[in-house]
Amino acid sequence: MNDTTLTRNPALPEFWLRKDPQTAFAEMRREKAVHWHDEPPSAWFPEGGRGFWSVVRYEDVVRVSRDQDTFTSEHGTEIVDMTPEMVHIFGGMLNMSGDAHAHHRAIVNRVLTPRTVEALGGTIREHARRCIDRVAARGGCDFMRDMVGDFPAQVICELLGVPVADRARLVELTATALSAYGTAEAYDAMLEIIAYAEGLVARAREQVSDSASFLRRLLSAQVDGEHMSDHEIAVFFALLATAGIETTATSIGQGMYALSRHPDQRRRWQGDFQRLAPRAVEELVRWVTPVRYFRRTATRDTEIAGQPIAQGDKVVLWYASANRDERVFARAEDLDFFRPEEQHLGFGGGGPHFCLGAVLARKEITVFFEELFARLPDIEVSGEPEPLHSNFVNGLASLPVRYTPA
Ligand code: HEM
Repeated sequence: MNDTTLTRNPALPEFWLRKDPQTAFAEMRREKAVHWHDEPPSAWFPEGGRGFWSVVRYEDVVRVSRDQDTFTSEHGTEIVDMTPEMVHIFGGMLNMSGDAHAHHRAIVNRVLTPRTVEALGGTIREHARRCIDRVAARGGCDFMRDMVGDFPAQVICELLGVPVADRARLVELTATALSAYGTAEAYDAMLEIIAYAEGLVARAREQVSDSASFLRRLLSAQVDGEHMSDHEIAVFFALLATAGIETTATSIGQGMYALSRHPDQRRRWQGDFQRLAPRAVEELVRWVTPVRYFRRTATRDTEIAGQPIAQGDKVVLWYASANRDERVFARAEDLDFFRPEEQHLGFGGGGPHFCLGAVLARKEITVFFEELFARLPDIEVSGEPEPLHSNFVNGLASLPVRYTPA
């Protein structure tokens, strides 16, 4: 690897620890639409992988996202290459394409609907209150560890009907699967989640209860007369558990940090919470961009903005860059709840894989901030945030906050 590919390679977790990753992206966007990057060594490829193209501009991320025929998800959406079996275990529908994906998505769309999320509203609020109340009297805490804590995990567990006694283990496994992504340890964690889910699905089949209702609806949902198998439901369960926890925690944690850096926006939101909430939540997701990238693979020789791309090449869509593209978002570094409503790419570039959990994520973020501002209206960041060591999720390990005890 030469110097430039090292200092400007967003696949390296170190790239994200530097002070100005967005300055590097701004330079890349100005120079050209697509950049070649060498691939850092990983647990599977100690010598480094085969390298990939980075797509950094908004319009190209959208174009590639919407063209699954040319840029498929079925060879994996992580940068690192995996065997077909691992691609399936780690991603399920996320790593499918074409008719197979459309069919699967049509089935789960019947079950994970806005009504399902609406019905979960009371539970989401209860968990948000519990998370805030457990440290409200302290006057200060670590926002990530003590307050956001297990909030999104509990919500997903409620949705999936995971018994309370099993939740801690499941959360531990999803954390291993995500933090050690692409390693044997992460793979084993995914296999354990799937085996656990298969047991839960088998029990849901026998049992009519409120907690089993989501899995029971998945069991009975069908499109063109076809059901999902128990194994498919278990893989979907694992995808929801891994896709829905860290992303939402990141939106809330980095969202709190964003609000602390833009006090005028925060004041206006707190002053008119309900009216501004839909715009504020979208703008927080744009500013934070919890998921920094997903990858595609070219199915044929093609081009992106004039750059030839060979069949089989890996193409990485940097939402983190596209969401700061100044051609689309004026003063993109500013958090601005009143900017023109331009579709951000935090939930993906549109097309068939657009985030299936977006409605749930928006609801969780809205309810959490609503409860937070109601209980601890003067909460403020009191120290430096500590980022997670990842090239994939823009998460925080820690964020010190203080407030008047309640
Ligand atoms: C703010 C929080 C979230 C962010 C930023 C986010 C981001 C994304 C992105 C960027 C994609 C597109 C993947 C691609 O194009 O390859 C995606 C897909 C997906 N997300 Fe989310 N997500 C969030 C929350 C959730 C939640 C809460 C759930 C589950 C309840 C969820 C479940 C999924 C699933 C199942 C897919 C795959 C959809 C498909 O392949 O058709 N996400 N998400």
